[in-house]
Amino acid sequence: MCGIVGYLGAKDPKEVIVGGLKRLEYRGYDSAGVAILDGPKSDLKIKVVRASGKLSELSKKLETEKFSGHLGIGHTRWATHGVPSERNAHPHTVGGVSLVHNGIIENYQEIKAELVRAGAEIKSDTDSELVAHLLAAKVKETGDLFKAVELILPRLTGAYAILAMWEKQPEVMVAFKNGPPLVVGVGEKEMIVASDVQAIISHTNKVVYLDDHEIALVKGSELQMFSASGHPIKKEVTTINWSADQVEKAGFKHFMLKEIFEQPRAVANAIAPHIDLEKKTVEFKDLGLTSDQLKSIERVFIVACGTSFYAGMAGRYMIEELSRVAVECDIASEFRYRNPVIPKNSLVITVSQSGETADTLAAIRLAKKSGALTLSICNVRASSIDREAHGRLYMNSGPEIGVASTKAFVSTLAIFNLLAIKFGQIHGFVGADVQATAVDALLGLPAQMETVLSYDKFFAESAIKLKAYRGILFMGRGINYPIALEGALKLKELAYMHAEGYAAGEMKHGPLALIDERMLILMVCPSDQNYEKTLSNLEEARARGGKIVSIGTGDNHELKTVSDDYLALPKASWMLNPILAAIPVQLLAYHVADAMGHDVDQPRNLAKSVTVE
Ligand code: M6R
Repeated sequence: MCGIVGYLGAKDPKEVIVGGLKRLEYRGYDSAGVAILDGPKSDLKIKVVRASGKLSELSKKLETEKFSGHLGIGHTRWATHGVPSERNAHPHTVGGVSLVHNGIIENYQEIKAELVRAGAEIKSDTDSELVAHLLAAKVKETGDLFKAVELILPRLTGAYAILAMWEKQPEVMVAFKNGPPLVVGVGEKEMIVASDVQAIISHTNKVVYLDDHEIALVKGSELQMFSASGHPIKKEVTTINWSADQVEKAGFKHFMLKEIFEQPRAVANAIAPHIDLEKKTVEFKDLGLTSDQLKSIERVFIVACGTSFYAGMAGRYMIEELSRVAVECDIASEFRYRNPVIPKNSLVITVSQSGETADTLAAIRLAKKSGALTLSICNVRASSIDREAHGRLYMNSGPEIGVASTKAFVSTLAIFNLLAIKFGQIHGFVGADVQATAVDALLGLPAQMETVLSYDKFFAESAIKLKAYRGILFMGRGINYPIALEGALKLKELAYMHAEGYAAGEMKHGPLALIDERMLILMVCPSDQNYEKTLSNLEEARARGGKIVSIGTGDNHELKTVSDDYLALPKASWMLNPILAAIPVQLLAYHVADAMGHDVDQPRNLAKSVTVE
């Protein structure tokens, strides 16, 4: 959480930093600030401007500000220690040293006590300011910011990505990390340090990712990398293949809406690298795991958080059905602390759009420690989870900026289709014909998704009615149960409405008591092997006065007759239905939240990348 940007170069640092922070606002948006050098060349001083609230508040304050220096850092915050306020906003500046921090310094109390004993004046409630005090003391001693960083590093425990500058060294920025991401953009005579390439891509596509316990020293237009103990290290320069306009709204009212409409392309991009069009087979060329390794797998664990977890739940149905390999699904924050039994020949699959979710990262590390093979399904290449895994598959969705995950979800479902087919083939349950049919169906999926998107007007009309209800129960069976969970999550996070996702067969075990005319039931009920049973559950809810919106296949008269509103999907196989059904549940949540005037791209209290546990 929190976004960091730093700039050293010939452009106006204010413009570059604020532009970058705008791209990183998805990481947190409860306060923001910049520290930029200003004044006569011989006596440059740090000037700090900070504001509580979203970045737009900071931008207003900066409108009339001018800075003469060419070095600056900025931050957009998601509060951990200390309430969201200007006082707690970053950068924190002590004795001419300014820094921005993403993460949590776990031993902050001990550091604070020591600083207070030494007479330090602590101005904020943050753990981050304490690091600025430590650095200020060490630059006094050493006269060098890099040396100061080296000296204070052993003092810090916890998760941190920190970028620091010192006004006495106007050509230097120092970045270091343990946990949250940091990347350096290497431009033509300019350097940008940021939490994510999205803040860099409009300036350069050449980047260097920092690994944990590394220090990046930016000196003029040079980048030098060091280990935590100060030894120079060589790092690879990666070329990013995203373009700057992929991170713009392209005429849509919100990023989320744009991303929902990008889903057919996202799915096509996710499957394309792995399909042999001539043979109609699934081929994982750069998986990083061999066929023999895949063959040896007797147990699969799928571990993730939030929407990625629900995608994993759907993946379980696919892999178990097609390959008869046992699959367990776990929420990463539970998995990492429940001392899981991971038998020999296990594969732990993590799903993460950002590749930076702290719990998922910890889960993959735990899995590796216990001897399991690991496979990451990830959107952001070279992210921490991506780099940690033995094998990798990419969502290939392009940048996802809306805090609510959409296209990464459907891309992941498509990837689980591929994995299930492959596992099924390896374990002898999927023959050539079945594989060719499944591959054909996947290839035709983006066009079917376009069809569902063309019904958006109807989804919008239906969405407006949701506001009137006390609560909404999303239900589904089998592979559509995760879609019910995802629909409820989307409504909670965007519309701030109470919604629950339930397995439809569980209704009689409690939730039926909730149902009256003020309760709306959204039944995900496409035509598959569970259709009849789901229909019975729908009837039970209806008999108790519940209002029904159903999502079904084609022009289903039976379903229409028992529903107050009916949303149609094209006919598809049971493994593809969830991808199609995801679209109406996303659009319902989007439209109701938009009609309520909520900030759809940046829902309250949330951040896109959860890099703290
Ligand atoms: O980046 P990740 O996929 O690891 O993120 C996991 C969750 O934080 C994320 O899916 C979250 O639940 C979304 N806001 C849901 O829309």
